[in-house]
Amino acid sequence: MSIQTISTTPFEGQNPGTSGLRKTVDVFRQPRYLENFVQSIFDSVEGYQGKTLVLGGDGRYFNSVAIQIILKMAAANGFGKVLVGQYGILSTPAVSCIIRKYQTFGGIILSASHNPGGPDGDFGIKYNIGNGGPAPEKVTNAIYAQSQVIREYRISDAPDVDLSEIGSVQMEKMTIEVIDSVADYAELMQSLFDFQAIHTMFANGFTLRFDAMHAVCGPYATTIMEKMLGAPEGTVVNAIPLEDFGGHHPDPNPVNARELMDYMNGPDAADMGAATDGDGDRNMIVGRHIAVTPSDSLAILAANATLIPGYSKGIVGVARSMPTSTAVDRVAAALKVPCYETPTGWKFFGDLLDDNKITLCGEESYGTSSNHIREKDGIWAILFWLNLLAVTGKSVGKTVHDHWKRYGRNYYSRHDYVNIDSKGADGLMNRLRSLLGSLKGKVFGSYVVEKADEFSYADPVDGSVSERQGIRIFFTDGSRIVFRLSGTGTVGATLRVYFDRYEKERLDMDMQTALGELVGIAGKIADIKAYTGLDEPTVVT
Ligand code: G6P
Ligand code: ZN
Repeated sequence: MSIQTISTTPFEGQNPGTSGLRKTVDVFRQPRYLENFVQSIFDSVEGYQGKTLVLGGDGRYFNSVAIQIILKMAAANGFGKVLVGQYGILSTPAVSCIIRKYQTFGGIILSASHNPGGPDGDFGIKYNIGNGGPAPEKVTNAIYAQSQVIREYRISDAPDVDLSEIGSVQMEKMTIEVIDSVADYAELMQSLFDFQAIHTMFANGFTLRFDAMHAVCGPYATTIMEKMLGAPEGTVVNAIPLEDFGGHHPDPNPVNARELMDYMNGPDAADMGAATDGDGDRNMIVGRHIAVTPSDSLAILAANATLIPGYSKGIVGVARSMPTSTAVDRVAAALKVPCYETPTGWKFFGDLLDDNKITLCGEESYGTSSNHIREKDGIWAILFWLNLLAVTGKSVGKTVHDHWKRYGRNYYSRHDYVNIDSKGADGLMNRLRSLLGSLKGKVFGSYVVEKADEFSYADPVDGSVSERQGIRIFFTDGSRIVFRLSGTGTVGATLRVYFDRYEKERLDMDMQTALGELVGIAGKIADIKAYTGLDEPTVVT
């Protein structure tokens, strides 16, 4: 075994987006591409010599190749130990949990989240810091800067390590500890939720259909739901993680989790349906004939937190990303706790959590979590719901309707225009920006513009400012339309248009009826068709 220093030259575009570096597998497979980025991470952080790194991924295509490369590079760069998931598998929330539990230096997660996998799909790599959360922008900017000047990387020529057996092996001066992928995470869940109450609910015949979408949560959900909580075998479907997720898009929303939606709308519907994404940080909650919007889910969890053992003392505050509906704001007001509005991207919640300003946080993009880790957490959200239903004895649908009766309802929808031309997308945003000053007071059908602006965020903890985080048009009735470009795509640009309309009394309107007029107004104000070339959004959730 010896350490090699290999000369290299920079690759363009190794710029981590909303959530790490995501590219197609083809890009990652170029010689030196992954190595350059990993060395850039190591070169941008200080003080890791002799320390511990957590490493694992969602099992997608290229995961096992990348894991071996990163182990050899960590050994060559002087890490003392790597905790790696068995078979290279760790969900994103499990990595966050393990970093915190063992107080490691940081962690590397291999995933492109909910993006499709396989040889023609996407791959990704994300660096998390010692608090268990995604690296903040100052770190990711430094990594990118380093990737643009890199000249060499270090790697051990040791043979590949067998990751199928739990135990320790030595590589150079570094210890590689292959750990159970599920155990630490399951233990954390047990400390937060009333497993006994959920167990009793299952024993009394409550049914759950958990769609793991052939992604990383299969083993986690099988252990926790079926083995620990006693849900019948077969509760977890699509439970075997596959390198290409069975050819599906492992994104838990009503469009991509069609199979689950059909089941929950059919005659055999379970009491609750749930799905998680590629790396296990997203979740969708479904009842019989009702899908809970992620924004409502966050509000409902906040409103009922004291019923759950881990949150029985109450919550100190909540946060949501700007495009997320304002449903949780009303719960925060009722509880008299602050509600923070952050830009899209989980990393913005990190220091609010570290500073104990918030207990719960969430996003419209099917992410919800709390201060137990520093990532969003799919299984955590599902367990929260199960615990809640076990305590109240209500159905999912009744829980949602009761919430609306008390707080009112936010009709909410997101329209995505996917893989459009970047120039068109930038053109649309630039034009909207130029209109901002002139929209106030303009009348569109039954709506009047109250104000329009571009969201910018000053972090209340470290004072850093993030500008251009989305264009917002507010109407006098409290409705909003938000426009922003996705930060997670790998091809072209994706325009997201978010619709949020608040209703205190009319709680049972059809979504299309409730939001139709706003949709028309957005098309008109932004001239969406002309800039995107599309008559209709690609995905509506
Ligand atoms: C990832 C991030 C989230 C973000 C979502 C959508 O899941 O972790 O924080 O909300 O992507 O981001 P995008 O920039 O594509 O709208
Ligand atoms: Zn994810």
